[in-house]
Amino acid sequence: MNSAERSIIQDIQLAPQGRLKMNWAKKHMPVLNRLREKLIVEKPLTGKKVTICLHLEAKTACLAELIRDAGAEVTICGSNPLSTQDDVCAALASEGVTVYAKYNPTPDEIKYYLTLSLENLPDLIIDDGGDLVSLLHSERPDLMRNIKGGCEETTTGILRLRALEKNGELRFPMVAVNEAFSKFLFDNRYGTGQSVWDGINRTTNLVVAGKTVVVVGYGWCGRGVALRAKGLGARVIVTEVDAINAAEAHMDGFSVMPIAEAAKYGDYFITVTGNKNVINGAHYPYMKDGAILANAGHFDIEINKEDLLAQSTSHQLVRNNITEYVMEDGRRIYLLADGRLVNLAAGDGHPVEIMDMTFGLQTLCLLYISENYRKIGPHVIDVPYQIDEQVARYHLEAIGVHIDTLTNEQRKYQESWRL
Ligand code: ADE
Repeated sequence: MNSAERSIIQDIQLAPQGRLKMNWAKKHMPVLNRLREKLIVEKPLTGKKVTICLHLEAKTACLAELIRDAGAEVTICGSNPLSTQDDVCAALASEGVTVYAKYNPTPDEIKYYLTLSLENLPDLIIDDGGDLVSLLHSERPDLMRNIKGGCEETTTGILRLRALEKNGELRFPMVAVNEAFSKFLFDNRYGTGQSVWDGINRTTNLVVAGKTVVVVGYGWCGRGVALRAKGLGARVIVTEVDAINAAEAHMDGFSVMPIAEAAKYGDYFITVTGNKNVINGAHYPYMKDGAILANAGHFDIEINKEDLLAQSTSHQLVRNNITEYVMEDGRRIYLLADGRLVNLAAGDGHPVEIMDMTFGLQTLCLLYISENYRKIGPHVIDVPYQIDEQVARYHLEAIGVHIDTLTNEQRKYQESWRL
């Protein structure tokens, strides 16, 4: 059976359309293209099975292809029901990658696809949000027989990994890709900052200038979302639970207040916390008629949908990806993309050049784990600094930006304790 026959996807006929999307992305991914030149010759992953669970859109498909080009047998599933693009799945399935994914699957299908992706007993994994790792460590430990280790993409996934490690239950090493400088400074901040507004704006077609935007959470993603809201001409309010982040938001020029107070001011509310119920039934009664709610955190748990449903008299889809909830007093509250990651469920995810850096990190970290898993053991490790720096250097070279080098005198000065 070839990969197209093995795959479970919506429609293989969509492959040419998916290929066009991938070609566009590939043209703008110089870091991956540079890695390909070496890996396609050396094929360091020959004989290895790699299972990937990521948002299945064009940039991710370019990563899967690169890992295939490095010699691996690649299987992939989606990491969010609304972020999978069926045409991209078809393109990948027709080119040697086994795909188990469809747009908007049922919860049972999601579980089935995750399980199928692991049933070939992979050597290495790339996870997003910890779905593969948690299935392996809870219900299907039998499928981790061959696993050497893997990489995790997100803050949410790393929290789960660290909890497993703390309990002494983590069974293989995982690299915390999200914690690399070349990841969070660019992907989380500029990637999320741009893609969240891209998703919101293409979905609503409304003006942001002059509106009040409430950004819930001021981590690296929240910083990006707030910065771009300001650039679009909004008044920005930040809500936080962390005193240092709150002080930073204040000095960055944003109003800072509790969400219970911000609830009455916002035209847009955007959650970027990684935590649950940060907007809930205590806040809806104070919101303005027409308030728009969007989530940019990994899971659809940040905006409490049950409370919204319970406090409304009716709801309906009024435009693609916009659900209108009519509240008991007649106010209308709009939820985008059903509270799922708005940048991926209502857009195409982060800009290509940003994911090029992130996926450059993923590739190099996967190779690192493949070579070093024995000496690392079952721990969550940071991205080695040389890999982090290498990705930034490849990116700078690709965009034609040059930097200076320390002189010997400067290096000695830096390394010495004598002045
Ligand atoms: N495209 C693929 N993976 C993504 C991610 N984690 N965030 C945004 N865009 C993406």
